[in-house]
Amino acid sequence: MKKLLLTVLLLTAGLASLNAQTWYVPAPENLAAREKFQDARFGIFIHWGIYSMKADGEWSMNIQKIPYDEYQRFAGGFYPSKFNAEEWVKIFKAAGAKYMTITSSHHDGFSMFKSNASSYNIVDATPFKRDVIGELAAACAKEDFTLNFYYSHLDWVRQDYWPRGMSGKLLKRPDGDENSWGHYIDFICAQLTELLTQYGPIGAIWFDGLWDMDARPRDEQPAIWNLDEQYSLIHRLQPGCLVGNNHHIAPFAGEDIQIFERDLPGENEAGYSAGQEVSRLPLETCQTMNRSWGYDIKDKDYKSADDLIRYLVRTAGKGANLLLNIGPRPDGTLPEEALERLAAIGAWMDVYGETIYGTEAGCTGAREWGVSTQKGDVLYLHVLNPADVLTLDLPRKIKSAEAFPSGSALRFDQKRNAPAYIYLPQAPEGTVDQVVKLTLK
Ligand code: GLC
Repeated sequence: MKKLLLTVLLLTAGLASLNAQTWYVPAPENLAAREKFQDARFGIFIHWGIYSMKADGEWSMNIQKIPYDEYQRFAGGFYPSKFNAEEWVKIFKAAGAKYMTITSSHHDGFSMFKSNASSYNIVDATPFKRDVIGELAAACAKEDFTLNFYYSHLDWVRQDYWPRGMSGKLLKRPDGDENSWGHYIDFICAQLTELLTQYGPIGAIWFDGLWDMDARPRDEQPAIWNLDEQYSLIHRLQPGCLVGNNHHIAPFAGEDIQIFERDLPGENEAGYSAGQEVSRLPLETCQTMNRSWGYDIKDKDYKSADDLIRYLVRTAGKGANLLLNIGPRPDGTLPEEALERLAAIGAWMDVYGETIYGTEAGCTGAREWGVSTQKGDVLYLHVLNPADVLTLDLPRKIKSAEAFPSGSALRFDQKRNAPAYIYLPQAPEGTVDQVVKLTLK
């Protein structure tokens, strides 16, 4: 079955790149990594940088129009004394996550890793002098936890990010010249090389910020950004490293996963996904716990743990992963609100993980009562809105129906050419997700 899946993936991978500029055939390691990624279903997103000191989200430099040279001085005061990589990874693992994606460099251009390509990095420009990415890489290796890197294409500090994109125009940087763009692209490649050679196996590179050049036609963007060169560099250095790009449109050739920002695949509630086709690549939705990505001291608008669990379930019901964000504080600690939610998700995953990990979207699709996930002959119905009877169209006959995790048998009716009915017992007060396990013939 796995072999068949690999062959099908191999045949469809090129077709799946809806905006393909060139033909791309993923390596066998890459196809295996895609499967592992899909099976994981849950990852932690970390937005952390010197902006955490401003405690006003990761866009504050741009929003408050802080001059680029003044902003860089934050680095001189960055000392996350309580940062403990092993503790973070243990917390994420206990929450049931299988990977983390951390901002190696965000729009403010500050590198959270030791970089020879730019001295504006955590080792050379801060009194802390520790390579937090290196420490996380070691902790992830020890805990057998996958490490992915977010990397911002756009940059608000470098002079050679020229011509400028739509953001960061008012940050009082000197202008570049006609050689700047080529220089900037070389810089990106140099940093990608560092990220992929200094820290062991990396699960994915997660690009963001291509939309900064949205004033230019979308189909010219791969050429503007030299994506082919960067994507093939990544695949050459680590064939199993997945490439994703949060550009809010259908994947370009060379991308291995498709990313959705604050939207489930096929939906556009947040407004970033208008017209974004859903490809056959592995899918991932990123979402915040409160409203912010980077640490925001004022933002206490957290979603409840129950709602986050339901969001994870709905994401799995779409056959996608959830990348759930946390913005660490400048001292290296994770906000208590985030810790509480991670603990609740972890407790739920301990019991219900079977219905999430390694599943695909169920054959029944989303219903008023909820969604379904599937693993072979087993279909998990996730009842997110209370119901007495579930009505569903099934392409196959039901062999058995039971409540999950108790295993107690449930009554069902399935007549030829008619919907199937599953009769539910009353769910105990406070049930987050009432799960039915159907085995199909
Ligand atoms: C947007 C924001 C960026 C954030 C990203 C996460 O692109 O500009 O700050 O890192 O979303 O998905």
